[in-house]
Amino acid sequence: VKPPATVIFIFGGSGDLNQRKLTPALYNLFIDGWMPEQFQIIGLGRSEYSDDKFRTHLFDGIQEFSRRKDGKDKIWETFSKHISYLQMDAENPAAYSKMSDEVKKFAAEWKTEPHVMFYLAVAPQLVPDIAVKLAKVQECGDKQKTRVVVEKPFGHDLKSAHELNQLLNSLFDEDQIYRIDHYLGKETVQNILAMRFANALFEPIWNRNYIDHIQITAAETVGVEDRGGYYERSGALRDMVQNHILQLLCILAMEAPVSFDANEIRNKKVDVLNAIRKISRDQVHAYAVRGQYGEGWMKGEKAKAYRQEKNVDPKSAIETFAAAKFYIDNWRWQGVPFYVRTGKYMHQKTTIVSIEFKQPPHYAFPSESADTWRPNRLIISIQPDMDIRLRFQAKRPGQTMSLNPVDMIFSYKDAYGAGHEPEAYETLLLDVMEGNATQFMRADQVEAAWKVVMPIIEAWEARPPVDFPNYAPNSWGPEDAEALIARDGHNWVTLPTKG
Ligand code: BG6
Repeated sequence: VKPPATVIFIFGGSGDLNQRKLTPALYNLFIDGWMPEQFQIIGLGRSEYSDDKFRTHLFDGIQEFSRRKDGKDKIWETFSKHISYLQMDAENPAAYSKMSDEVKKFAAEWKTEPHVMFYLAVAPQLVPDIAVKLAKVQECGDKQKTRVVVEKPFGHDLKSAHELNQLLNSLFDEDQIYRIDHYLGKETVQNILAMRFANALFEPIWNRNYIDHIQITAAETVGVEDRGGYYERSGALRDMVQNHILQLLCILAMEAPVSFDANEIRNKKVDVLNAIRKISRDQVHAYAVRGQYGEGWMKGEKAKAYRQEKNVDPKSAIETFAAAKFYIDNWRWQGVPFYVRTGKYMHQKTTIVSIEFKQPPHYAFPSESADTWRPNRLIISIQPDMDIRLRFQAKRPGQTMSLNPVDMIFSYKDAYGAGHEPEAYETLLLDVMEGNATQFMRADQVEAAWKVVMPIIEAWEARPPVDFPNYAPNSWGPEDAEALIARDGHNWVTLPTKG
């Protein structure tokens, strides 16, 4: 069933996110037959664009960033008729009546009162003001048909996130607000839910009795590039851990939901966040590690130090790498460490989860075979390779009882063919049009996630780093990150990627 007739307003219409992600995602949904019969995408912005010039700008984005390259010209011709541009100054209240006029125009043309999506692809400081003015536009239609999509960063800390929630909740009902975390739209991330809860195999051992520890790595080979201005107010902890990584952790650690109802799933995730042990500020050094890249080499090219990047303070204390160890204080996870790490200019682009199981209670094999014994692991590769592998001990063929680890692999590519998976933004935009908030962050979820990282942020801000820059491009981050996990007798798991 296709979503209902929808007018999509994109604030920041001429910006990067729209050109790279949003319109290409809507275009792919259109090719796949998921767009409503009646829809209009209206870019909003200060820059001057004719409809045609705006369409060309978006077409260039599709050519460069869309996953689909098929049937571009013919399909584009039809699709582009659904795109227009409205020049407006978002700070001017009068400009918003133009939006109401557009909604009315399409309602008359389509002979139905459309749903309206307001996508706020703008700098975070503009969000409150736009939201206040938008609240008036929603009054021109059925409130329940109006949805507001808010991009990250959602707040700069717990206090500002709370204030933003209060403001939004005073203007809109919670079920009209879609706080986006694009990790939740990734196929492989969604599949963790299927793997855990659609199989009888994993859940009985998914707890402290069988799991030794869990690791999440989200490593990128890119540097901060031209995002210095944004990154200087953010850093790896705010940019990746507070949102994407903690959301992944929730999906790995949550209790089984009774249904796929949005609030049911989100309740279970909030339970995890609320159970994460608070790190006291004076213990942060034992639980969290920060890093910043210096200059060096990346894939044969000279790489600038973070402090030399555009719009970055030459003495910046902002971290481009963060690692942390969390405990979840509940029955299922008591005593099981969750190690997470993320960084820019890492040796390899890879997002993986590794679940390491405990040792068998008794080792009955000849003692010499113990040297090659390795723990069972379930490794979920989220990107760029997409697979799930179960690593277990097997006997090597031969006359001795010699054991070594082998992998049983489910690969998306082998099972479903390559390139069929929708991009995260496709899934999430469709969810918004369909009114399904399951994969979006509820107000309390965002705040609970901020609570987890606040002690680390406060401790780091109180004590500027003395050793920055402390890792080289093309490495796995600072040595302290190795020590964080090695102290507990473990090491970070990586896999060679093909992608
Ligand atoms: C964004 C961060 O939210 O996620 C970026 O702001 C980061 O800094 C990006 O590069 C990573 O997303 P993905 O989908 O490439 O893993």
